[in-house]
Amino acid sequence: MNQDIAVHYTGHGKLADAIAERLREAGKDPARLTTSDLASVDEFHIRGRKATLELAAKMNLGPGSHVLDIGSGLGGPARTLVETYGCHVTGIDLTPAFCEAATTMSGWVGLGDRVIFKEGDATAIPFPDGRFDAALTIHVAMNVPAKDEMYRHARRVVKPGSIFAVYDVLQGEGGTVRYPVPWARDASISHLVTIDEMKELLTGAGFRIVEVHDSTAESLAWFETMTARMASAGPPLLTFQTFLGADFVVMARNQVQNLMQRRIRTVTFICEA
Ligand SMILES: C[S@@+](CC[C@H](N)C(=O)[O-])C[C@H]1O[C@@H](n2cnc3c(N)ncnc32)[C@H](O)[C@@H]1O
Repeated sequence: MNQDIAVHYTGHGKLADAIAERLREAGKDPARLTTSDLASVDEFHIRGRKATLELAAKMNLGPGSHVLDIGSGLGGPARTLVETYGCHVTGIDLTPAFCEAATTMSGWVGLGDRVIFKEGDATAIPFPDGRFDAALTIHVAMNVPAKDEMYRHARRVVKPGSIFAVYDVLQGEGGTVRYPVPWARDASISHLVTIDEMKELLTGAGFRIVEVHDSTAESLAWFETMTARMASAGPPLLTFQTFLGADFVVMARNQVQNLMQRRIRTVTFICEA
């Protein structure tokens, strides 16, 4: 199944090359990029960079913090944390092409010395106990059937008293998900749970839940704003289509329908270890 997930996200291509090519076509100098040039593709979750910053604001971060990002994708959230708080971030991700591209892209924006991306499975995190000052995971657990193992490892690798911030897509009360969606082309790699199941999983792993925020309405508003912007100014320079291919158009449409019909919800959990 892990292989199916990697193929779903990236096919077989060289991602950083495809992104660099797109940037060059648009007249961007790869030696002068900023993190905002990449934000429309490297923050691979609903509400993008704004959602990452909201989460980060609850994580007690400072320049000395070492943070773990579980399911780090192309590394956008990790670079946002580093740029905003001056911390260090280690990302792990199942998809080798994402880890490779995340490392290359961090070098493009001069943050290569503060982030590390390593291939790894959220259900078998390859770090010792108490290694990190905080951890986060954004839009990852939808692909993970063994969430109990994922959260048990998250609890194990953070220091007692530190924050674990989770922002994920959950099962809503409106019925089953319409596929394809950005995390799965069909139900075989999709494993959503409800808000109550999430609470049980997180407390079962030893976390105290400090805050729960359902951002479904904000997520819908974000899609509306993005659609209106694209209607007037055209699509952004880089989109998730760069790696999800032409399917992304229908995935995005389904995502809106799923949110509107409350088949899915976007929810944040701030947890204390
Ligand atoms: C929708 S992307 C989100 C990426 C990133 N968190 C972000 O918000 O930009 C989901 C990511 O989860 C990763 N993933 C899925 N299952 C995983 C697992 N068991 N362990 C680690 N990463 C996993 C995928 O490879 C993909 O990079």
